[in-house]
Formats: sequence, structure tokens, C-alpha cells
Amino acid sequence: MRFDAITLFPAMFDAITRFGITSRAHERGLWSLACWNPRDFATDAYRSVDDRPYGGGPGMVMLAQPLAAAIDAARAAEPAGRPVIALSPQGRPLDDARVRALARSSGAILVAGRYEAIDQRLLDSRVDEEIAVGEFVVSGGELPAMMLIDAVVRLLPGAMNDERSPAQESFAEGLLDHPQYTRPEVFEGEPVPAVLMSGHHAQIRRWRRQQALLATQRKRPDLVERARAQGRLDAEDERILAAARLAPPGSTG
Ligand SMILES: C[S@@+](CC[C@H](N)C(=O)[O-])C[C@H]1O[C@@H](n2cnc3c(N)ncnc32)[C@H](O)[C@@H]1O
Repeated sequence: MRFDAITLFPAMFDAITRFGITSRAHERGLWSLACWNPRDFATDAYRSVDDRPYGGGPGMVMLAQPLAAAIDAARAAEPAGRPVIALSPQGRPLDDARVRALARSSGAILVAGRYEAIDQRLLDSRVDEEIAVGEFVVSGGELPAMMLIDAVVRLLPGAMNDERSPAQESFAEGLLDHPQYTRPEVFEGEPVPAVLMSGHHAQIRRWRRQQALLATQRKRPDLVERARAQGRLDAEDERILAAARLAPPGSTG
């Protein structure tokens, strides 16, 4: 898998090539990254990449030409046919389904914006898709691009030491993850739930499913609705949810 990042700050991407799971996967050759700085494609003596907006207003607008040249250079690299994705607060919010689809692909060319905006003609002529990392604005597209790459790369076979991890995490089955515990057995007077110490795998599986359902119901009831609509909840799940609705607060789990 290959990502190309169009960015004024290539060094920021050290955060994913030098640390953690993404770095290890990079070293193992599971993915590669090439950064293209639009400043290297500017044509004037000042290597300008931005200018004032037509019509007035605050901030600067990224010039179409250096961005277009940088994207075209990235597009000339193999594998061909990868989408050009602009990170943008105006894009579709990134979710688990899009991340998993990208993990099955050969990668993408990611455009990290800066300043007030990107010239609309660049978006119209070069960008296939806009993706947001949330309904808020950050000052540049580098962190959003790195979030996307991180989310995708950790799903690649061989990226995680335990291949089961991505299948068991929040969203994988439409629910949030169950709570986890590690040593010590008692922390500040709070013991680890007894079932986890029982060694009874079927009971542990059932308890974890119950806890995942209850956590999702409490924190993200919209996800429970969606899982129900998608037919992902069985009769036992519904029984657990119904019992929790009847129980006094704090009495479940
Ligand atoms: C200061 S923002 C520009 C925001 C723009 N004025 C607007 O209101 O849509 C600069 C760059 O940060 C990135 N960015 C900001 N918020 C983002 C978000 N929620 N998701 C993805 N990218 C974001 C985009 O690449 C954007 O071009």
C-alpha cells in the first residue's frame, strides 16, 4: 500500500513513520509514504503557495497551480488509479467502513490543506473525495491525514502483533469495545470482575458481549439502533438490553 501526502510540512509525517504500530508496519514494508511539498512546484521567485482571496475576506487561499503540479507528480507514481482525497472539514466524516475499504485498496493521495482555503478549481479538477475527521476545524490537513493513514495501516495484515485485535475493537461489530482489566487484581479497593478470573471462556465471552452492549447503549445509543437495523443483535442481546432498561441506574455490570 502506498500513500502520497501533498503537504507544506512533510516533517510532521515523522509522527507516523517513526513511532508505534505504523512505524513498525512501515519498516516491514507493508506501506510506504512519499511527501510532495507544493512549494517545490511553485513557479515564482518567492516560491509562493498562497495568495489573497478574490472578493476580499480574511486569510489566504492556497494557489491551484503548485498543488496541481504536486498532485500530478504523485499521480504519476505507482500504483495508478488511487483516489485523490482532500482532508477537509467540509468532507464526509471518516468512519470505520471507509477506513476498512481503504485498507483493502492500494492507498491514496492525500491533500493536506493549510490557510483559509484551497482554490476551488483545484478541488474541482483534481480531488475525488473530501474526508473530515470530525465536525470541527483544525489548522491544517496533516493531522487529519495522519489519522486516516494510522487508522488504515493498523488494519493491514501483519501490522498488529495480534491479528485478532482489529476484529475485536470498537465499531468492528457495530458496537463499542467491552472494558478491559489488567494487573493488579485489586486497584484502590476495586477488584477485577470475578468472571474474568474464572478461566471459563464461554462465560467470559458472554460477559464481554453484555458489557459491550451496555457500554454502547450508555455512550452511543445511536450505534445500538444502527446495529439493530442491520440485524446484528440476536435475541440474547435484546434480552440484555431490555433487562438494563428495567434495572435501576448503576446496577448492571
Ligand atoms: C483552517 S482549515 C480551513 C477551513 C476552511 N476555512 C473551512 O471553513 O472549511 C485548513 C485545512 O485544515 C484541514 N482541516 C481542518 N479541519 C479539518 C477536519 N475537521 N477534517 C479534515 N481536515 C481538516 C483541511 O485540510 C483544511 O484545508
